[in-house]
Amino acid sequence: MGIIFNEKEKQFHIFNKSLSYVIGICEDGDIGQLYFGKPIRTDQKLHDYQSYGIRPLCCNEKDDEKYTKELALLEYPAFGDGDFGSSAYEVLQENGSRVTKFTYQFHRIYKGKAPIPGLPATYTNEDEEADSLELVCRDLISGLEVTLCYTVWENYSAICRHTKLKNTGDKKLKIEQALSCNVDFPDTKFTWLQFEGAWGRERSPKERDISSGITAIESLRGHSSANYNPFVIIKRKNTDELQGEAFGFNLVYSGNYIAKAQADTFGKLRFNMGINPKWFQWPLEPGEEFNTPEVIITYTSNGLNDLSQNIHRLMNNNLVRSAYKNKPRPILLNNWEATEMDFDEEKILKIASKGKEAGVELFVLDDGWFGKRNDDFAGLGDWYVNTDKLPDGISGLSKKINELGLKFGLWIEPEMVNEDSDMYRQHPDWVLAAPYRPRTLGRHQMVLDYSKPEVVDNIYNQLYEVISNASIDYIKWDMNRSITECYSQDVDKNQQGMVYHKYIMGVYSLYERLRKAFPHILFESCASGGARFDAGMLYYAPQAWCSDDTDGHERVKIQYGTSYGYPVSMVGSHVSASPNLQTHRAMTIDDRANVAYYGTFGYELDLNEISEEDFESVKEQIKFMKEYRELFQYGNYYRLQSPFENNISAWMVVSDDKQTAIVTTHKTENIPNWGIERIKLQGLNPDIVYTINDKDDIYGDYVMNAGISLMNKERNWYESDGDYTTHMYILKGKVTK
Ligand code: GLA
Repeated sequence: MGIIFNEKEKQFHIFNKSLSYVIGICEDGDIGQLYFGKPIRTDQKLHDYQSYGIRPLCCNEKDDEKYTKELALLEYPAFGDGDFGSSAYEVLQENGSRVTKFTYQFHRIYKGKAPIPGLPATYTNEDEEADSLELVCRDLISGLEVTLCYTVWENYSAICRHTKLKNTGDKKLKIEQALSCNVDFPDTKFTWLQFEGAWGRERSPKERDISSGITAIESLRGHSSANYNPFVIIKRKNTDELQGEAFGFNLVYSGNYIAKAQADTFGKLRFNMGINPKWFQWPLEPGEEFNTPEVIITYTSNGLNDLSQNIHRLMNNNLVRSAYKNKPRPILLNNWEATEMDFDEEKILKIASKGKEAGVELFVLDDGWFGKRNDDFAGLGDWYVNTDKLPDGISGLSKKINELGLKFGLWIEPEMVNEDSDMYRQHPDWVLAAPYRPRTLGRHQMVLDYSKPEVVDNIYNQLYEVISNASIDYIKWDMNRSITECYSQDVDKNQQGMVYHKYIMGVYSLYERLRKAFPHILFESCASGGARFDAGMLYYAPQAWCSDDTDGHERVKIQYGTSYGYPVSMVGSHVSASPNLQTHRAMTIDDRANVAYYGTFGYELDLNEISEEDFESVKEQIKFMKEYRELFQYGNYYRLQSPFENNISAWMVVSDDKQTAIVTTHKTENIPNWGIERIKLQGLNPDIVYTINDKDDIYGDYVMNAGISLMNKERNWYESDGDYTTHMYILKGKVTK
């Protein structure tokens, strides 16, 4: 790994053992992109991409220039010059001009990685893990300074990028667009893979052709959204799970964003990503600076499983910060689907006691414990206990739960307020609302104006009071509506374009304060399930409720799709009641658990209500998960057969030493008299004999190259079970040749 500056050729070579990323100072002082892909030598001149000569209708600053901007591959293209492509930034100057032209000034190369003030970002544990480059450019007329920041990692095929904009002049500037990164590819033979859905069906992979023009996704909901996740893969057309080239882009941000690919008519593909410029305006006074969020750019030449594993490792080791970082997650029992808001202390203790009997480690009290919260019309904003339901308060209940031998966790939704709440009655100006217009509701609630520090302070103080007076080990932080009428009341009109970004910065600041005040607490983020499931949240909360859809069959798809861009340790997954609340589909308790194991694992039902036989199964499941959870949560995860394309889907995890692996298959429909069905496994040691489910002994080379049969006499489960069924294969290494 390293970053080398070739003074003579004016090239920077950013590299490690699996990638090279080369950029150079162009003839006009702009920063050009020279190469991104498999490792190449560091000592060669690579300027050939940039020398296209003058073309008709192309506009160059000097008539005799050899270098044509429109054909150049650029690192951070400006607006208003001869590039004409989708620009990475736009800055309005006092005289009304949006034209800028930055030129290279100086650079800094250093070990480690600097934090990004106020924003989530990857970090180094030791300086030796990464090298960083800051490339400082300046527009000499406006004084706008643009610093392109890069970090390359020793252990991951990844580069992290963000950009800093600073006003070094003496006049006001206004940023109207500042994306995090731009990557120009010298050809367009790629496809685009996005992860889309809606409430209850988040993050399904959807491949789109990149054809001439723009391919894009975005969010304008104020949160990253269940609809389009801020993670995109740009891949070669023939790249699959096991081979081929692909580039992953994870935005480390939870607010409005855009990701865009522009295939131009000269055969160049431009990809850029960052804060959505729609209704974004950031005034920059002389001396002020603005940092964009970070993008994690991953690269593979070995297929999508390799790309994902790389992301998983990077996130687990260098993005998650928590007492639970790389630690097994507690098995929890959450009361939401069991009681919703209709509970009292007795009911809660009864549910928790049964959980303890089953082996659960943490009990989580969900929505309904505060203010006048008996339904979703009231209470949000009033973070004091409802003593009608819990006479001894959260403090008393948490102690009683601890006495049962369980840790105690609590649900909060601190960004919202109901009209029927003391907080709203006292502070109607604390919600986002446009002047003279109705206040749009979502789930009967309004969004608090987190761009105002006094609002964040008030919520912090209320929560501090509850948490510090009780025994709380876990917090589920929910967010159940999107932002509309994003307007900060009684605030200057010139600052309204800052509100979306300031809002999410306010959310991050509250997370940071609570994390610092209560470092032992395990945070789980949630947004009506998975509507804010992103790398930004992962920096504050190491796990996230993946979806409100807890149906086992739907979860196969949701979790499979999620695995492309996020680690299993992040995936909040619970076994809930059958028939399922959302889909009314019935699945056995073991089938439901077999899917939920690939996540943080827990239960979301009243264990008093299930049959004795099922309860015995739950006890076994918890014992099993305690034995294998490190493997499930931190093992190397492989997608084997997609539920989006096959009747039988399969996935697996393998330990780092390749001695243990667990494979799960899921069948949607039981089709009579079905044909041959084999699944080829991945990531094993070819020279080890594995015992499968304590029965068959098979070499790794065979199960990887020939596969395991799902149809032999022990496993002919087409005959023995029906629709929506799962099977699990536990492989244990026996002898090394
Ligand atoms: C959201 C969450 C659920 C639950 C409810 C409570 O929908 O996703 O898990 O916490 O809110 O109101």
